[in-house]
Amino acid sequence: MSLLKPGKTNGSNKTRKIVAGLDIGTSKVCALVASPDAEPYTLNILGIGITESEGLNRGVVSNIDKTVKTIKKVIDQAEQQSGIEIKNVVVGIAGDHIQSREARGVVTISNQQNEISKADVMRVIEDSKNMAIPQERQILHVIPQEYIIDGQYGITDPVGMYGLRMEAIVHIVTGAGTPINNIIRCIERVNIEVDSIVLEPIASSYSVLEDDEKEVGVAMIDIGGGTTDIAIFQDNIIRFTSIFGIGGKQVTDDIRKGLGIIATQAEKIKREYGHCYLPGIMKDDIFMIPGIGGRKPIEITKKLLCQIIQPRMEEIYEFALAELRRSGLAGDLGAGIVLTGGCALLRGAEELAQEVFGMPVKIGAPSGISYSGLAPEVENPIYSTAVGLALFGLENSDSIDYVDGKKVDILKKEKKVSIFEKVKKIFDD
Ligand SMILES: Nc1ncnc2c1ncn2[C@@H]1O[C@H](COP(=O)(O)OP(=O)(O)OP(=O)(O)O)[C@@H](O)[C@H]1O
Ligand SMILES: [Mg+2]
Repeated sequence: MSLLKPGKTNGSNKTRKIVAGLDIGTSKVCALVASPDAEPYTLNILGIGITESEGLNRGVVSNIDKTVKTIKKVIDQAEQQSGIEIKNVVVGIAGDHIQSREARGVVTISNQQNEISKADVMRVIEDSKNMAIPQERQILHVIPQEYIIDGQYGITDPVGMYGLRMEAIVHIVTGAGTPINNIIRCIERVNIEVDSIVLEPIASSYSVLEDDEKEVGVAMIDIGGGTTDIAIFQDNIIRFTSIFGIGGKQVTDDIRKGLGIIATQAEKIKREYGHCYLPGIMKDDIFMIPGIGGRKPIEITKKLLCQIIQPRMEEIYEFALAELRRSGLAGDLGAGIVLTGGCALLRGAEELAQEVFGMPVKIGAPSGISYSGLAPEVENPIYSTAVGLALFGLENSDSIDYVDGKKVDILKKEKKVSIFEKVKKIFDD
């Protein structure tokens, strides 16, 4: 599907599609306003707001007031930079509460010609949701894997085919109602409506993975501050998603405890001198950390710091590897691993990953599409989710036309459509 809606003109004002992505991460909160440019898959970043997170723990809101404040701050920044008033956002979700599993649906085709229609596909997807989900959980995504028509497997697009009985195998992602509703509540407190809620690894995959990688098989691993998010693709379809609650904050915590320093110092030296692959350190430099409470400065070597960081990064990779094995797809990843998220910036991240996963590893940042406007800034692994949320919104939302150059509502809607209805709509397009 093209990102671009046919350009319309409204007197002297141009109308175009526009979308706002909101990534509420454990380390940073980021709002991004974007529109497609003249060519399909060219993204124009119009405004960015970014600030350190407060009130989140492992991807989940732990303090509503602090989270609302940070959301308001980044929305204000993005609005000022873009000159657009943000009314709706596509927001990311992660956290330990996310679960995914395979499910099946089945329908009979009852029209006279036995020709499968889009409505039949919708029905079979609906039917796949009739599985036992605890009441407190909500369905976030239903991703069709394949259709089976009268016993014939491997069908990806059944519309127009002849059939009597159609089954669908789907990947269903669910989340706990409380953290989902808390995120919605925080955003609504800033007078913004939630257009869609998107699983963070699905969002990141939109911005960092290339089509041929998704075809031959690839695992994208987004290691952020509080969570590690995985999305596996094969034959251009998301086959598996997973999230676990370990990330860069644990690495920083190990440095803090290991060296007896404060968290801000630990974070600073991790970024400045941190390395997670001992054989990759050619020259062992010494650096100083100011002592706390009048104590003498501490002398540290890069190798010592690496000896603290490496075991935790190995642990994160090993957890991720166990998830790849659990997916049953670890042996089918022709394009290997794409690492993204802030921890992909750690020196040696690629080399260590290559050793642990035993397959090719590349660092991924938003790319594969050209950017204009604030492009260089977003070509960084910390922006993968925010850019991906905007791309998801542009591909999957209703028409988001607006009058160029004026402060107008994004996604002015006549009637409120629930995000779950919107997810359903995706399959109808
Ligand atoms: N230059 C760098 N070198 C090493 N680590 C870095 C660098 N920049 C960021 N990080 C680490 O990346 C992590 C933050 O990554 P990111 O911004 O992707 O997280 P997040 O999206 O806020 O969190 P999450 O997705 O887990 O909720 C932090 O732990 C930070 O220390
Ligand atoms: Mg993140």
